[in-house]
Amino acid sequence: MTTATTRSRTAGSAAGTPHTRVEGRDKVTGVARYAADLPFDGLAHGWLVLSTIARGRIRAIDTAPVLAMPGVVAVLDHRNAPRLTTDYVGLLGKPDPTCAVFQHDRVPYLGWPVALVVAETPEQAREAAEALVVHYEQQPHDVDFTAEHPDARAVDGHMPAVTAKGDLEARLAASAVVVDVEYTTPEEHHNPMEPHAATARWDGDRLEVVDSNQGATWVVGELANLFSLDPASVRVRSEHVGGGFGSKGVRVPQVAAVMAAKVLRRPVRVVLTRRQMFSLAGYRSPTVQRIRLGADADGRLRALEHRSQSLTSTVHDFVEPSAGVARVMYDADAHHTANRVVPLDMPTPTWMRAPGEAPGSFALEAALDELAEKCGIDPIELRLRNEPERGPVSGLPFAGRNLRACLLEGARRFGWADRDPRPGLRRDGRWLLGTGTAAASFPAGAAPSTATVTALADGTFTVRIAAADIGTGARTALTLVAADALGVPTDRVRVRIGDSAFGPAMIAGGSMGTRSWAWAVTAAAGELRERLALAGDIPPEGITVRSDTTAAVAALAQKERHSFGAQFAEVAVDTATGEVRVRRMLGIFAAGRIVNPLTARGQFLGGMVWGISMALHEEAVRDRASGGHVGPDLAGYHVATNADVPLIEADWVPDPDPDDPVGIKGIGEIGIVGAAAAVANAVWHATGVRHRSLPIRPSRVLTAAGGAVDA
Ligand code: MOS
Repeated sequence: MTTATTRSRTAGSAAGTPHTRVEGRDKVTGVARYAADLPFDGLAHGWLVLSTIARGRIRAIDTAPVLAMPGVVAVLDHRNAPRLTTDYVGLLGKPDPTCAVFQHDRVPYLGWPVALVVAETPEQAREAAEALVVHYEQQPHDVDFTAEHPDARAVDGHMPAVTAKGDLEARLAASAVVVDVEYTTPEEHHNPMEPHAATARWDGDRLEVVDSNQGATWVVGELANLFSLDPASVRVRSEHVGGGFGSKGVRVPQVAAVMAAKVLRRPVRVVLTRRQMFSLAGYRSPTVQRIRLGADADGRLRALEHRSQSLTSTVHDFVEPSAGVARVMYDADAHHTANRVVPLDMPTPTWMRAPGEAPGSFALEAALDELAEKCGIDPIELRLRNEPERGPVSGLPFAGRNLRACLLEGARRFGWADRDPRPGLRRDGRWLLGTGTAAASFPAGAAPSTATVTALADGTFTVRIAAADIGTGARTALTLVAADALGVPTDRVRVRIGDSAFGPAMIAGGSMGTRSWAWAVTAAAGELRERLALAGDIPPEGITVRSDTTAAVAALAQKERHSFGAQFAEVAVDTATGEVRVRRMLGIFAAGRIVNPLTARGQFLGGMVWGISMALHEEAVRDRASGGHVGPDLAGYHVATNADVPLIEADWVPDPDPDDPVGIKGIGEIGIVGAAAAVANAVWHATGVRHRSLPIRPSRVLTAAGGAVDA
């Protein structure tokens, strides 16, 4: 070989070697175009008008004055909008009626889309949208999320609401040590840097959409259903995505843009503002979780109950399945879990990085820490003693459970052996110091995908797959995987993604994207390699092989498939100011084969930073009177920034998945799991105070310090 890059000298060894993003240069030089950047001839701009009441009906909309404003082309609302089909089951279930915009006059929450003003420029559209007067008939709303809410009910989400084995009360009564605690987590928002945006253009019956999504196939399916179209006549592209975190499925911008483009017979673009994202981009529900643990004196669990309640809107059920994590992590003779939801006059929550596991692991792993304290057992030893042989609820064998290796390697590197378990003893000037740990898991799976790989006469290869790189480095990972499967250096491989025309593929979600796509790419590349061995000259159009992993994925044996991890944190707490600083953090993961150590580390670190943010900062506050947010922007909603984030290390133990052609398990989400619990457990170790409500903001530390600690 003659043109190998410095990073991939040897064909066949790209995966496992750090590689900068193949599109990195385009991104930092501004060449990369995002959804709202692409030029379209004759483009009109839509601006959404959102409800200012949390419940009621639209009585009237004064469109005439707005239609007379400069540049305004149209106002779409429930009176003139085309009808949509909402009675279908899509890739991830029934559609959230929020996306079926302008179909009726009811308002189920504050920030609900009531109209779209379309104008020649975004500025004209915005000015007109903000001038549009909407009259409402307001009804009383309920945004009070409480543990005792009478409307709470068990709802099966993507997993059953309730699991139960054994006599819980009897086992608790017979346990030498019992922990019975309630934890709460607040409403949290993903808010990716690139706002949700979409441009739609019709050409006869053919629809083209450029948007910011986590899966072009998914968006095609939803739009085809909503607008009663043949999916083959819909093309969705999303070449670059500035973050998704679960929020970028089909949302209001795509549907509103498609609708307006249809009515106006010209391309229309709709972009959410940062504030609009707070009601239309989805979010993580607050949770209230009750955990009861019963154990022998030596820490072996005999009873485990994890109950979680989250909220949903009144128009769609979404469950934040926080109790699900207990179904995988720990077993007990009596083992009960339940996820319940209460419908409120609030926007529908959605998937947000590690849905369920992120808040669920905070509660469960903090409760384990409380149990360790009560038993007088080291928290790591307690976890090692409770490692299950099989899935506690499924009864299935684990397809690799390397949690023990993560805990031991993490403990070694963090210096855990020297830790004095007693709380409130260490000082550094005004700071109290403490360390904490927590375990983590996230499902590992694969879903059917198709890919094509083309060999060109110049010796290069083009991979096409409807993958989405939402910032994870998926495009780069697939480049490495393809290069290895083809047996060529990475600079001879070009990976094209983000286009539904490339055929159906898994979404960037469930930590399953890169694994599912890599499988399809490997299959196509392997077959192409065999074909090339037999072929003579490559014709001008190249030689293309197409793969479909549907059968291979379906043949996977039934097992508990998960990634695992161990999180460690050291904190300093100033009980006079209430300030909590994370001083260092370490995460060790067993998450399958790591394709690109550079971007994988970034993915883990990003999750851990989010864990710090979740533990100490993030909290969307609702105003009970209006039903909306207090400060729905990135000034009012605090996230961890550079000054909050210390030296963080993430590393991994060898853990290739034997059932995956590349050995991948998936690393998208596990970085955040357990991270907040490790911080909260460290705060206890520093101060002797258990903080069971996130975030551990200064006011909470001060309130606690006013009591027992360091008064
Ligand atoms: Mo993820 S929350 O499955 O995008």
